[in-house]
Amino acid sequence: EFHREHKELKLASDGPFGQFDKQQLQRGFQVYKEVCSGCHSLTRVAFRDLHQLGYEEAEVKAIANQWQVEVPSVNPDTGEPATRKAVPADHFPSPYANETAARAANNNALPPDLSLMAKAREGGAAYVYSILTGYQNQPAELLEKFPAAKTAQGLHYNPYFANLNLAMPPPLTSEGQVTYAPGNPKPTVDQMARDVSAFLVWTAEPNLQGRHKSGWPVVIFLIIATLLGFLSYREIWAQAK
Ligand code: HEM
Repeated sequence: EFHREHKELKLASDGPFGQFDKQQLQRGFQVYKEVCSGCHSLTRVAFRDLHQLGYEEAEVKAIANQWQVEVPSVNPDTGEPATRKAVPADHFPSPYANETAARAANNNALPPDLSLMAKAREGGAAYVYSILTGYQNQPAELLEKFPAAKTAQGLHYNPYFANLNLAMPPPLTSEGQVTYAPGNPKPTVDQMARDVSAFLVWTAEPNLQGRHKSGWPVVIFLIIATLLGFLSYREIWAQAK
């Protein structure tokens, strides 16, 4: 009863004919890059996919170069996997060497890959937005009723998370945490949360626009086909009494 439904979130990509707002996707990518990528991978997305958001060849290359990916060999001195700079064909890697390292850094929880997060949970992007903006103090009534549900050390209360207590510390905490290019809205916590949620809709379904666009010709075709069918029905049965 203390768990809450997700908040409402309206995005340009909503609805049967919605299209992505590329400006917003770029801002959302910036939030992912500067904040979320510290813990979360995006393994279904390649750096070169960023062309779809309007980035140029050289920009994509420069972005990819900011990441390191593992190569299939081991550094003979340290036993650590060897790495190289990412190139546009690589996918967004996890910042951790392996699951053990990821859990060690996160109070034993595992930051999930975010590629499909906007599809994985009830509410989709609105769920992500709700989680990001939903951190709060634990209500007193909850503690009275269920003292054992007290948020443990290292966890964070969030009524939009099914478990109520979440291992992710609030990632977006202050206005201007990310600097947006001139002409963009003010980077308030709410705005950054909306933008990164919109971005995760794109990562989960980069072909959404194509799907929405191909809907129109299909609808028009179906109308014409129905009309033709009806007219030939009348023609064929015209003599019948
Ligand atoms: C879980 C998004 C930044 C660590 C999650 C979940 C989402 C999410 C949607 C999943 C909740 C679920 O499983 O339903 C984001 C976004 C971020 C961000 C959009 C950037 C704005 C971070 C950062 C860290 C982090 C910077 C590490 C300091 C975690 C961990 C979990 C998690 C450990 C698993 C929590 C649990 O199972 O209790 N994140 N995250 N996240 N995130 Fe993040």
